[in-house]
Amino acid sequence: MCGIMGIINKKGNAIKKVIEGLEKLEYRGYDSCGIAFLTANKIETIKTKGRVKDLKELIDTDTKSNIAIGHTRWATHGVASTINAHPHTVGDITIVHNGIIENYKELSENIDTKLLSETDTEILCAYINKLYNENHDMLKTLAKLKTDIKGSYALAIINEDEPDTLYGVRKNIPLILAKNDNEYFLVSDMTAALKYTNKFYLLENDEIVKISDKEYIYDSDLNLLKKELLTFEGTSNDVMLKGYPHFMLKEIHEEPMVINNILSYYLTDGKFNENMPEFKKYKNIYFVGCGSASYTADIAKKVFENYANIKCEVFLASEFRYQKHFYDKDTLVVFISQSGETADTLEALRITKSDGIDTLAIVNVVGSSIAREAGKVLYIKAGTEIAVATTKAFTAQYLLLTLIALKMAGINDLSKFYKINEALETVFAIDFQKYAEKIYTKKDAFFIGRGIDYGLCEEGSLKLKEISYINSSAFASGELKHGTISLIEKDTPVMGIITDENLALKTISNIKEVHARGAYSLFITSLDIDGDFYDDKIKVPHINNYIDPILIVASLQLLAYNVALLKGEDIDKPRNLAKSVTVE
Ligand code: AGP
Repeated sequence: MCGIMGIINKKGNAIKKVIEGLEKLEYRGYDSCGIAFLTANKIETIKTKGRVKDLKELIDTDTKSNIAIGHTRWATHGVASTINAHPHTVGDITIVHNGIIENYKELSENIDTKLLSETDTEILCAYINKLYNENHDMLKTLAKLKTDIKGSYALAIINEDEPDTLYGVRKNIPLILAKNDNEYFLVSDMTAALKYTNKFYLLENDEIVKISDKEYIYDSDLNLLKKELLTFEGTSNDVMLKGYPHFMLKEIHEEPMVINNILSYYLTDGKFNENMPEFKKYKNIYFVGCGSASYTADIAKKVFENYANIKCEVFLASEFRYQKHFYDKDTLVVFISQSGETADTLEALRITKSDGIDTLAIVNVVGSSIAREAGKVLYIKAGTEIAVATTKAFTAQYLLLTLIALKMAGINDLSKFYKINEALETVFAIDFQKYAEKIYTKKDAFFIGRGIDYGLCEEGSLKLKEISYINSSAFASGELKHGTISLIEKDTPVMGIITDENLALKTISNIKEVHARGAYSLFITSLDIDGDFYDDKIKVPHINNYIDPILIVASLQLLAYNVALLKGEDIDKPRNLAKSVTVE
């Protein structure tokens, strides 16, 4: 996923505002970046491998310009390098692009431009330039992309022939046109424009936007559209650190607010209200997601099975979309995605819908592709999440899934949920650094648990590995004896997780096994269990067996955060990652 931003105003400060916007979009991808701007009706492009702070070193942001486009990249087609960084220019056309062009080879056979980079984007730029040279009409040129280009794109475009106009077009990748009284922003998401406006148009697939004296939005047949100007729910606070050292820590500490958002939206006086829909009596529920999104389901499925008595299965979207499906009209398929743009999850949704199966999306980003294409959507109300490692959104997804399970079970006594935030404050008061100090120098770490606790291990392991780069794995603790216990060496960190008292004794014996072999065993539990089978213990408050996981997850997030902090890693922007994987 990449971040794109274009701006047009008459204030001469387009360069400064695009750079500011790229800094807000950097969480979407950050291996290289660049900007192109018009001065004296001529395009100037500056780009670099590295971060936006490196780009700023190369630019005089006070240079006057009314039109600029910028890009921060997560390399897909072509390595991260200055020459492959966007913007790309061919002839009169300069573009920044988020997405993947699948028929780039076929396109390259139709252009006679000597290409400088290894990117599909430059080929696309050359193709747009070719079309424009044939018809000298940008709208007709951009309308042809719908039929000629296979793949996905969100584009901001400058044509040197039209130095007072900014163009945009999208297919399968989000592009937003934000505006205030006297300027326009073409952005990948609202975080880049929130400082200046919360008013925006959500562009649909194949819509084309032309901004000159005002905004004109066309469909692919070049009919002028009258679109609703929407108001974004978030505020610029969402995208500011507000005194925290990292967005990840800020967002963990926003979990009480997020929990309040969800409880106040879906409940009234502690009972479900009309925002929580009635569900059909399904015989099966499939959960589909990637990474942490799939782990929320691994945990929540136990609540559905134990309380709503519904058979559940969890699928990784990247596997689900290629396998044989056994769903039917008695199956509900739930797609979980913070961004609502994850390519594998979106494609899995499209396949399921084409098979006529009921679909429900559990999503954070309002108006995202998965939210709009699913049969039903329930929003997790977590606000903008900037840190690449998801925290508040994970907790929100799990909480909402648990509420849905209780709704399906016909359970309406939800009073325990109002005890979470007080318990979270207890978790936040724990000194995680002292445990992190025994982990951060190690190259491997393991998480072990059974049942619902195994799902917690999966998430705890991913959090640790993705921000500290420690090679971490989650094991169903009953599996240790079947091979993995061979990995245990002296001081190997092993986190043993217990919230389910029915499985406690079994997991305790597994923790004893690793402890006896020299591991550093860190026991993490919500239950009152003591003993000599562990080196250290983290105890979180106990509420009940489907709420305790929220408290355990907060502990795992803070443990991972403190380990990465001690290692001095880039916590909010881990290497090689991006906030949402909008490519397959
Ligand atoms: C979680 O910390 C990771 N950033 C990653 O596993 C993420 O959960 C996954 O890519 C799914 O993203 P989504 O929820 O936006 O679909």
